[in-house]
Parts: sequence; structure tokens; C-alpha cells
Amino acid sequence: MTRLKIVILPGDGIGPEVTAEAVRVLQTVAGLHGYRFEFEEHAIGGVAIKKHGSPLPRTTLDACLASDAVLLGAVGLPEFDRAAPNQRPEAGLLLLRSALGGYANLRPAISYSSIAACSPVRAEIASGTDILIVRELLGGLYFGEPRGLSSTNDVSINTMRYSVEEIERVAKVAFQAARKRRGKVTSVDKANVLETSQLWRQTVIRVSQDYPDVTLEHLYVDACAMHLIANPRRFDVLLTENLFGDILSDEAAVITGSLGMLASATIGGEVGLYEPVHGSAPDIAGQGTANPCGAIASVAMMLRHSFDLEPEACDIEQAIESVLDAGYRTPDIAEGTRGYVVTTSEFGELICQAVAEIADMRHAYFAV
Ligand code: NAD
Ligand code: IPM
Ligand code: MN
Repeated sequence: MTRLKIVILPGDGIGPEVTAEAVRVLQTVAGLHGYRFEFEEHAIGGVAIKKHGSPLPRTTLDACLASDAVLLGAVGLPEFDRAAPNQRPEAGLLLLRSALGGYANLRPAISYSSIAACSPVRAEIASGTDILIVRELLGGLYFGEPRGLSSTNDVSINTMRYSVEEIERVAKVAFQAARKRRGKVTSVDKANVLETSQLWRQTVIRVSQDYPDVTLEHLYVDACAMHLIANPRRFDVLLTENLFGDILSDEAAVITGSLGMLASATIGGEVGLYEPVHGSAPDIAGQGTANPCGAIASVAMMLRHSFDLEPEACDIEQAIESVLDAGYRTPDIAEGTRGYVVTTSEFGELICQAVAEIADMRHAYFAV
């Protein structure tokens, strides 16, 4: 196999703690199967501002554009909370997303039965949840122009803008994903108020005609937020614009037990971008207690979507489930469940061991 170049952007707060474990898992996969992954680490976010004066230094961007896939930890530091919008750590991530061009952000939210009890949502409601959020990532309020704050500081503006083309391309991703799952797409909008949402709904309906085998329903975002927490199992694929997807994915994380559980893959661009859904978690940074599942599940998505290594991706996902089944937990998923509390790196090590065992069993199975 050719050498695959993976850029690692650890970023701020718990970013470096969780990406270190994800890299360890990739190294394990490489060692087991003889793949050649080459890792290159670069600065982004608050650490990049401090070191290079920019949240996305040119060297970082060039390395990402020249890579086969990018893994990002998290960006954001409280000390930059009052900085100008383009001098904030988050600006680096938004610039990177638009430069890489991926417009479909896939965010699976899966409730694992062994930790269902640690969700504040009752286990009988949370258990069995398996949702794929397909979040549009390059449009809407995040990128719409005009935007800004008046010179007198008393008026501000952001623009929600969507073109038919932007809606169509992400809708297709959602319908294709639904075909491989349970065949249902729920499209989220605010079509009772917003013109962008009316165009969103019309366009999604038109795209759906090419997918007669997939059931389409529409929900207003406020009702969707309610149904998501009241009856998460009613959802299969959830298709949303950028900001609604940002909000609903953190809500979906609560059903799984912790924001630390959620992974993401951004596809459709030249280079795939993989990042856990959570942020830099300044409240727990540096303590070795962060949950690395989101970052580790993100590299499983990298193997699937960027490298077409489906069996190895499944091994990692199975390893996460088996380590949780064996009772190991980081503190965020320990409450209300019986288990052993371990550190971020102990959890990562357990995943590596499980990946090796699962890959071994898979080979033994195919050998007979
Ligand atoms: P956050 O996601 O960082 O944290 C929210 C809560 O979840 C905190 O209590 C945190 O301790 C907990 N949490 C998050 N990830 C966890 C993990 N892996 N293990 C255990 N607990 C975890 O959100 P926030 O506090 O609103 O934001 C902090 C900073 O992160 C801000 O600067 C924000 O802009 C940034 N942020 C970055 C990203 C990203 O880089 N993709 C995503 C979200 C927020
Ligand atoms: C996420 C984050 C980002 C977003 C921020 C940090 C720019 O919240 O990935 O969910 O809003 O997209
Ligand atoms: Mn978010």
C-alpha cells in the first residue's frame, strides 16, 4: 500500500489529549495490517495564534491541502473569548473547513447499551438510538455575507444564505446514507418563518424524487429538538443546515451519555476532515480525564471515508463497544453505570488492545 499522509492538528485544551489516543489507534491498525501512515503535526487555534500569530498558519493549511486526511482535536481557549472574530481560534477551524471544501459533516450519535444508564435521558428511551446527523458545513449563518458589527457597536448582522446547489449536494449525501441504513431521512428546517428554509424544503423534496426507496419527513427545528430528546429512536438520518446541525448534535450527544462520545467526518471536498464533535473543554483540560471515544471513532470514519478501509474501521468501532462492555469508563460516562474509571490514555491503550484482538479474530474466522 502507498504511504498515506495524515495531518494531525491537536489544537487547544483537551484536543492534544484525545488526538494522541486516536493516533495510537491508527498506529495499531498500521502495525497489524502493514499499512504505512505518515503523521505530520501542525498548529491550529489558540496555540497557533500564540506561536505564529494566526489561528490557521499558512504552513498548517498547506500541509492539510497536501495530505490524504486531516485529524483535528479541538480549538478554543477562554483567553481569546474577547478577541476580534477573525483572531479567534474558531476562525482557524472555519477557514480550514472552507479551504478543504467538505460540505457534508457526518455526525453519528449511537447509544451503547452498557452506558445507556449514564444519560440523563431514561435508559429505556435512550437505548438503541442510532442516528446519523448530516450537517451542511459550508453555508448558512457561518459564512453568509454581509456580516459584521457597526462601527458604533450598536448593530450587528449575520446572513443566512443558501443556494439550491448547496442544498442539493448535501441532501444527496443524506439520501445515499439512508439507503445504507434504515431508509429514512428527516429534514430539519424553519420553513414556517425563513425563506432559506422554504428553499431548503423544496429542494430536499425534489432531490428525494431520485430516492423513492427512502422515506422523507420534514420537521421544524424547534419540534425536532423536542422529538430528539423525547423519542430519539424515531430518527435515522437527520439532514440539517449548518447552525441547526451544530445545536442538534450536542443535544444528540446527551442521549449517548456524553459529548465526548461523538465523532465526525467531513466529506465532499478534496481532503477529508475528521474531528470529534466536542470542543476544547477548558474545564477538564490537562487532567487526563477527557473521553477519547469521539476522536477515536473519528479515525474509524477516516479509515472508512478517506482510505476505503471498511473492515479496519469496523474493528475500531467494535473495539469501542467492547471496552465499554467490559466496564471501562472515563469520568464523563461513569455516573450511573457500574465500571472502572480510567484515564484518557488508559482508555486509549484498552482500545488498542481490543482492536488487535478483534482483528485477530476476524483473520482467524476467514482462515477457517
Ligand atoms: P465543550 O465541548 O468544549 O465542552 C462542553 C462540556 O462537555 C464541558 O463540560 C466539557 O468538560 C464536556 N466535554 C467535552 N468534551 C469532552 C470529552 N471528550 N470528555 C469529557 N467531557 C467532555 O464546549 P464549550 O465549553 O462550550 O466550549 C469550549 C471551547 O471549545 C470554546 O472555545 C468553543 O468555541 C470550542 N469548541 C470547539 C470545537 C471544535 O474545535 N470542533 C467544538 C465545540 C466547541
Ligand atoms: C463544532 C463546533 C464549531 C462549529 C465551532 C468551534 C466553530 O461547535 O464543530 O460543532 O460551530 O461548527
Ligand atoms: Mn458544536
